[in-house]
Amino acid sequence: MLNSLSDLTLKKQAGERVSVLTAYDYPMARLLDEAGVDLLLVGDSLGMVVLGMPDTTGVTMEIMCHHIRAVRRGVKRVPVIGDLPFHAYETPAQALANARLLIEAGADAVKLEGGAAFIPQVRAIVEAGIPFVGHIGMLPQSVKEEGGYKKKGKTPAQAEQLLADALALDAAGACAIVLESVVADVAAEITRQIKATTIGIGAGKETDAQVLVTPDLIGAFPWFCPPFAIPRANVAGEIQRAVKEWMEAIQ
Ligand code: KIV
Ligand code: NA
Repeated sequence: MLNSLSDLTLKKQAGERVSVLTAYDYPMARLLDEAGVDLLLVGDSLGMVVLGMPDTTGVTMEIMCHHIRAVRRGVKRVPVIGDLPFHAYETPAQALANARLLIEAGADAVKLEGGAAFIPQVRAIVEAGIPFVGHIGMLPQSVKEEGGYKKKGKTPAQAEQLLADALALDAAGACAIVLESVVADVAAEITRQIKATTIGIGAGKETDAQVLVTPDLIGAFPWFCPPFAIPRANVAGEIQRAVKEWMEAIQ
């Protein structure tokens, strides 16, 4: 169990894996906190898995703050990371102002998507004393420019770029870095080379932490589940079973 973000360094040194799950509302945050999860992420994935948007680019600061407030009401112990949404960190000043709004809403740390190109934004956030989490590899907020969701680190040039981005974020003071859809060997090498905790999703088994979108883990979003996420419950099926049982019962 992780009681504060500063415990991350100790866990990495001890070689203990860290568990990270997404939460978007009060009951799930409370359940995950009570279950002993190490870290929660109010991810902008909520645009897709909660709000039914086609991708994460429609998520706004207002939406993020609304869900972070709900999650904050549900947690007693577990630290909460909040995502800066699309177009919310174009300049260092804008990144810092929006990071402050996420913290005010109840986040303990903020995350944004990007590597070396975003170091001025990262520095503005870190220098203001706000714990920062990076996010490199496949970047869902760039899905339109990229023309889809693709694995990263397959070519030596891509692998080198990822390592350079991770080192730059590490040097700028990130306490953790999400590695999304990164070739396992590249994720493992980054994990060895940086001080920050690596949080993998679709990035193999050797990252310091693993993160999943909770609806994927519990089978609550059956219309799409990424191949690396193995559902360990069938919540969608249970909901429909209970509803059908009740509909019969009231006849
Ligand atoms: O929004 C999100 O859920 C995320 C995770 C996939 C890391 O950023
Ligand atoms: Na996200």
